[in-house]
Amino acid sequence: MHAAGNWLAIVFFTRSFLQRGRLHQKRGKRGRGKLSALAGLAVLSAAGYLGGHLAYVEGVGVDRTAFEPRLEEWTDVAAEEAVPDGGHRVAQAGGTEILLYRHSGRLGAMSNRCSHAGWSLADGKIEAGCATCPGHGSVFSLEDGQVMAGPAASPQPCFEVRVRQGRVEVRS
Ligand code: FES
Repeated sequence: MHAAGNWLAIVFFTRSFLQRGRLHQKRGKRGRGKLSALAGLAVLSAAGYLGGHLAYVEGVGVDRTAFEPRLEEWTDVAAEEAVPDGGHRVAQAGGTEILLYRHSGRLGAMSNRCSHAGWSLADGKIEAGCATCPGHGSVFSLEDGQVMAGPAASPQPCFEVRVRQGRVEVRS
């Protein structure tokens, strides 16, 4: 939609340029040319707003986890037995989807939203110490969220994990 809006704006401005040219001025089309320019400006503004939203709110082309809120406090997310060795599950904490996993007996947690384009890592493969995104195949280390294989360019945010009275707690 963002790209289509930009192309449409180009069409409007080109049309305006042609309508405001010398030949068309004689035919009284200058007013139409101004209207085309105004339409182009409106479409360009809408496309620009959408582009800003995509980059600065959704993190598209940047890092889809860039604007997830930090968990400053330890936050209860699941019962310890809900994450068996070799298993994983998705939990919610502070508006963020967290991927909880237990690998070789170690509990870990990272953002469930793939940094590349936002697919759910829980829907991919969680095995051999790595999480493979079902979207485009990026592979992240379960140890520290580092990118083992692209196209993702940014690591997955990982969380500190602790167990208190049978409950799993996480924080950023
Ligand atoms: S969304 Fe995960 S690799 Fe593209």
